[in-house]
Amino acid sequence: MLISTLLPLMLTGIATAKICTNITIPVDISSRQGLFRTVPLEGNLDATAFIQEMNNIGQNYSAVLLQDYQTLVGSYEISAKFCYPDSGVKGSTVQLLTHGIGFDKTYWDLSFNNFNYSYTDAAVGKGYSTLAIDRLGIGNSSHGDPFNVVQAQAEVEALNAITTKLRNGGIPEISDKFDKVIHVGHSFGSVQSYWLSALYPDNTDGLVLTGWSTNASFLPAFLAASNLHIARLNQPLRFGNASSQTAISSLKSWSTGDSIICGVQSLLSAINIKLSTQDIWNEIATTEVGDLINGYNRTVIPLDYPTGYLTWSDFTANQYNFLLPGHFDLALGLVAESTKQPVTTGEILTIGGSPASSPFTGPVLIVTGQQDSIFCGGDCFATGTDAASIPAEAQKAFPNASAFEAYIQPESGHAINVHYNATGAYQVIQSWLGAHGLAA
Ligand SMILES: *[C@@H]1O[C@H](CO)[C@@H](O)[C@H](O)[C@H]1NC(C)=O
Ligand SMILES: *[C@@H]1O[C@H](CO)[C@@H](O)[C@H](O)[C@H]1NC(C)=O
Ligand SMILES: *[C@@H]1O[C@H](CO)[C@@H](O)[C@H](O)[C@H]1NC(C)=O
Ligand SMILES: *[C@@H]1O[C@H](CO)[C@@H](O)[C@H](O)[C@H]1NC(C)=O
Ligand SMILES: *[C@@H]1O[C@H](CO)[C@@H](O)[C@H](O)[C@H]1NC(C)=O
Ligand SMILES: *[C@@H]1O[C@H](CO)[C@@H](O)[C@H](O)[C@H]1NC(C)=O
Ligand SMILES: *[C@@H]1O[C@H](CO)[C@@H](O)[C@H](O)[C@H]1NC(C)=O
Ligand SMILES: *[C@@H]1O[C@H](CO)[C@@H](O)[C@H](O)[C@H]1NC(C)=O
Ligand SMILES: *[C@@H]1O[C@H](CO)[C@@H](O)[C@H](O)[C@H]1NC(C)=O
Repeated sequence: MLISTLLPLMLTGIATAKICTNITIPVDISSRQGLFRTVPLEGNLDATAFIQEMNNIGQNYSAVLLQDYQTLVGSYEISAKFCYPDSGVKGSTVQLLTHGIGFDKTYWDLSFNNFNYSYTDAAVGKGYSTLAIDRLGIGNSSHGDPFNVVQAQAEVEALNAITTKLRNGGIPEISDKFDKVIHVGHSFGSVQSYWLSALYPDNTDGLVLTGWSTNASFLPAFLAASNLHIARLNQPLRFGNASSQTAISSLKSWSTGDSIICGVQSLLSAINIKLSTQDIWNEIATTEVGDLINGYNRTVIPLDYPTGYLTWSDFTANQYNFLLPGHFDLALGLVAESTKQPVTTGEILTIGGSPASSPFTGPVLIVTGQQDSIFCGGDCFATGTDAASIPAEAQKAFPNASAFEAYIQPESGHAINVHYNATGAYQVIQSWLGAHGLAA
């Protein structure tokens, strides 16, 4: 590694005591997965129609669209961020971090408030190396056909390929061989980490599944509340393609010297609609208007997702699914909305396809926010039975685990890392790993 590429991060990262590098990892995968009949997804109403079919209790839409199975064979690139302690000691144990729907690898190292919400800092602080990936299909990893390439199983195969490379020194930028790989996931990233443990139980040494349970009852509410739209229409300047340069320039000139809020206020007042600054803020920041103009003031290389990539409509949907009111910093919530990532139709059709149980014989920790709406319906303790919590029921999926605990993080919604007490959860995880033979 060149010192010059590390230096800037070392300087800005003094408080965090970590060294990080961005890498692109090529993977070759072979994935046995669905071959779906595709349906039109050009406009927002198509996206709504897709979810209407998904949520129709009279059918299994995955089965309706399934034509056959296929073996997807391909070479893809996975974008990743590798971090290790600034002592230079990478250790023998690496945490492999997989994000959920709507996020990318930055979920694990949020720069907001001087990295105060960084999971990576907590792990590196205990001596671990970390590798956070953009899942196949998302962010800076290879994109692909949203129906028949970017499905859960293909992403699991990519995760498995990365795991093997970490063990055998197959990533030139890292070179070290790690004895142990702990799979840490959030949400769909937990689904995939669990899935990997079911298919390749010998390729993981420990599972930390955050924002997860095995109860799928609340997924339809998640899909409905998302009010999914075509990603490239929702945030054209980030999710669309380079043709947005024109829009970026005109928006820039439109808002010159003034904030967007004042600009909109004067536009509306010109047609005699007078709204307070607070009302305008609500109209812009919490609705799709905010998503539409997002990216106008940044230098971004547009992600250019195909139309079958979907995203929730706006910050209100984001709050419903991911955030517990009163327990997150609004400014961080807005960052999450403006930097969100999409979900593919293929992912939605296959998210429920994981094996029913895992033969994994190592330790398993689940950490889910008490008020998680997607995996607990808003209250992880409302089991209606004598089960300790909804996530605790996942123990049935791990009959042979050496240790199992379902920890319920208080005062947190689904996106634990975006809540005030995120670091409280991080410490629980690092301590638990240390107590179960997985210290760095
Ligand atoms: C890695 O990528 C992130 C996100 O684009 C960027 O902020 C950071 O400066 C990059 N780091 C290096 C060492 O290039
Ligand atoms: C729906 O159909 C798919 C494809 O046939 C199948 O894998 C899945 O188990 C079904 N889901 C349910 C809940 O029956
Ligand atoms: C980060 O968190 C620490 C401890 O909770 C707090 O003292 C500090 O002010 C926070 N820093 C920022 C920039 O928010
Ligand atoms: C993705 O890649 C683009 C282009 O190289 C870069 O500008 C951007 O910062 C990267 N983002 C992340 C999160 O890696
Ligand atoms: C932008 O995307 C649209 C729709 O996919 C396509 O028709 C158009 O050619 C693209 N423009 C550029 C500049 O790539
Ligand atoms: C646009 O970005 C610049 C530089 O980051 C910043 O100073 C300015 O306030 C931003 N403008 C608006 C309207 O947010
Ligand atoms: C757990 O171990 C038992 C005994 O070896 C075995 O019969 C069973 O199939 C295992 N369960 C799973 C889910 O692999
Ligand atoms: C999911 O949780 C709800 C609420 O506790 C419960 O009624 C339902 O039986 C659970 N479903 C499964 C499959 O465990
Ligand atoms: C923060 O989280 C930790 C770990 O779950 C917990 O022990 C602590 O009580 C929480 N703090 C607050 C103020 O909720």
